[in-house]
Amino acid sequence: MATEIFNKDTTIELRNKHIGPSCKVFFGKDPIKIVRAKGQYMYNEKGERYLDCINNVAHVGHSHPYVVNAAVKQMELLNTNSRFLHDNLVQYAQRLTATLPEQLSVCYFVNSGSEANDLALRLARQHTGNEDIITLNHAYHGHVSSLIDISPYKFLQLDKSAKKDFVHVASAPDIYRGKFREDHPDPATAYADEVKDIMQEAHRNGRKIAAFIAESLQSCGGQIIPPAGYFQKVAQHVRKAGGVFIADEVQVGFGRVGKHFWAFQLQGEDFTPDIVTMGKPMGNGHPLSCVVTTKEIAESFMSSGMEYFNTFGGNPVSCAIGNAVLDVIEKQDLQGNADKVGNYLIELLNEQKEKHPLIGDIRGVGLFVGVDMVTDRVKRTPATAEAQHVIYKLKEHNILLSADGPHRNILKFKPPMCFSEEDAKFAVDNIDEILTAIENATMVKTDHVESNAAENGACKRKMTSYDNEHSSGENGHHEHTNGNGAACGQQIVYSHDSHKVSGKRIRT
Ligand SMILES: Cc1ncc(COP(=O)(O)O)c(C=O)c1O
Repeated sequence: MATEIFNKDTTIELRNKHIGPSCKVFFGKDPIKIVRAKGQYMYNEKGERYLDCINNVAHVGHSHPYVVNAAVKQMELLNTNSRFLHDNLVQYAQRLTATLPEQLSVCYFVNSGSEANDLALRLARQHTGNEDIITLNHAYHGHVSSLIDISPYKFLQLDKSAKKDFVHVASAPDIYRGKFREDHPDPATAYADEVKDIMQEAHRNGRKIAAFIAESLQSCGGQIIPPAGYFQKVAQHVRKAGGVFIADEVQVGFGRVGKHFWAFQLQGEDFTPDIVTMGKPMGNGHPLSCVVTTKEIAESFMSSGMEYFNTFGGNPVSCAIGNAVLDVIEKQDLQGNADKVGNYLIELLNEQKEKHPLIGDIRGVGLFVGVDMVTDRVKRTPATAEAQHVIYKLKEHNILLSADGPHRNILKFKPPMCFSEEDAKFAVDNIDEILTAIENATMVKTDHVESNAAENGACKRKMTSYDNEHSSGENGHHEHTNGNGAACGQQIVYSHDSHKVSGKRIRT
């Protein structure tokens, strides 16, 4: 089958002409044209293979034949809206809810993570009669207006005053960079108490809380793993204040964390959200998303008297695909694979941390892993330019990885769930090679990387043109003194390629 209609230059030209300029491509100066993909590999127009370390949408593997076949078979037979009875819909709802705690028994099928979160806000507001939402700093919950409002990752790029009065921002429960860190005796309680304080302040101002919303593990926010017990404590405070707890599993659900099917389950058996939203991996690339909630919340939503209708949500083709994805996760034990390969990846990365002062922290569960790059281990100074350099170099080595977080210094792994140990080793060996080259160029001593070594070595670098491109900090404010947060004495030792990276990040 021909894989190209146009040559690459024409594709770029047409894209520039007809596609909105705020729709960014990866690697803006030298974008990749992908024409086919299989498993964890993507192929460009020349047939060159890339290892995909970031695509959590192609959950069970790109173009999985079992999923494709399920879609084709159902498309040949029927596709229509959910106002007709159809077994795919009820079977899928039954299977999906069987993966969740018993109370979460009612589904609303939609077509994107944004639709799911928007509906979750409606459910919460209708059920509680309240309006206000507590969200976490650096959170991203979707692209529609209602969600930009509660996504500091986005609205802070505009202007601090873009925050609406009904939105309250709590600190991300980040024990590496946040205000309560790994040396705090009880960071879960400390972060949850902050949420309680925020609610009390809101009440004093005559406001009422409808919901607390958080990703079960913050992805765009920098691969943050909240301390166990945090969600339970927050839920207690939020429910006491009359609100509900929404867990956004759009990025991290469906077995990615290995030990559990849902990432919120990492918090412990005693925690159940009131509403769970899901998306990306659910349809393995087909637009399929869902909101699952309790009978009580669904009944409150019904009591408004307004019908909920969604033209495409829950159609027989989408549900056939959803069922097929669940089949593959089960049959290929992809959850087990995420656990096994994820542990191996973390082990390999921890070895790199011993070797490279540029690595400040490795955190992750299953196939959701972050590498926090720093120029100074003591100050935990984000190594933004270096992280971007690693991403670009990896691309040259045919490996696709991204960097995110408020400082764009976190290398984030969230590959298709069929990612293998060989893939992990290949990616980490390449990272090793690239970090070694950076450190040699910057004369960082790699033979001693105790916590203060980085202070003596890793900071011996100078802001380059590369850094300048990043001098606008995340979220529209200038967080870094020199675009790289380099608070150390600087000297010219590190010359970058001519890569030019957009000052704005591209979320993956
Ligand atoms: C955590 C989270 N929630 C919601 C969304 C929105 O999903 P979609 O892009 O499918 O609308 C995203 C998308 O990146 C996300 O990362």
